[in-house]
Amino acid sequence: MQCHFTVYRFDPAADEKPHYQEYEIAAEPTDKILDCLNKIRWEQDPTLAFRSSCAHGICGSDALMINGRTELACQKLVRDFKSGNNFVIEPLPLFDVVKDLIVDLEPFFEKYRQVQPYLKPGKNTSGKEFIQEAENQEFIEPALRCILCASCTAGCPINRANPDYLGPAALLRAFRYIFDSRDSTTEHRLEKIDADDGVWGCKTMWWCTEVCPKEIPITKCLGQIKRAVMQKKKGG
Ligand code: FES
Repeated sequence: MQCHFTVYRFDPAADEKPHYQEYEIAAEPTDKILDCLNKIRWEQDPTLAFRSSCAHGICGSDALMINGRTELACQKLVRDFKSGNNFVIEPLPLFDVVKDLIVDLEPFFEKYRQVQPYLKPGKNTSGKEFIQEAENQEFIEPALRCILCASCTAGCPINRANPDYLGPAALLRAFRYIFDSRDSTTEHRLEKIDADDGVWGCKTMWWCTEVCPKEIPITKCLGQIKRAVMQKKKGG
């Protein structure tokens, strides 16, 4: 089938303002949107800039706006869209454009680093392996599926209104360590996150959950953090 792509183009080093460029390509209904972008770049326009790596929904590098919604280009097929054979491809909102579909994700990773995304175990005096309970692993498992594609954060209306809000991806990573039974700093983690720009920045709009390509119940996880913060305040 013939597909029509309208693609956002902007090179801040050369262009005064962004514009959209049209491309026509032949594609199969089972082609990924990433396949189509590769085809445009390889066969028509080698100047088109976008990121991708694994092409299998693992690395998180090709999150884009496809027809107005954040998606992974490697996870969506041509036939997945009601728009038939018309596609509008834009960079993730919220972040500065480096070139075309590539955005600067440094602010995203800066917030991610703020939650100290690594295990801080207490002293293990047992002389044995530090083993995690199976039920505990199951509880935090949804957060382990996060590939840091930034779709949730870019799609979050709160993040768009308040750039200081930690955002769903960083909070989800905090959830992963707050509820890890091997971590010894839960109290401190909860204290740090108990702020208007922390977990209370989330107004339960569910958009992060709606757009997550890994179907992680992010809003629910953030709700569990809120509950833990309240319990801590009550001394529970
Ligand atoms: S290219 Fe790795 S997630 Fe799409």
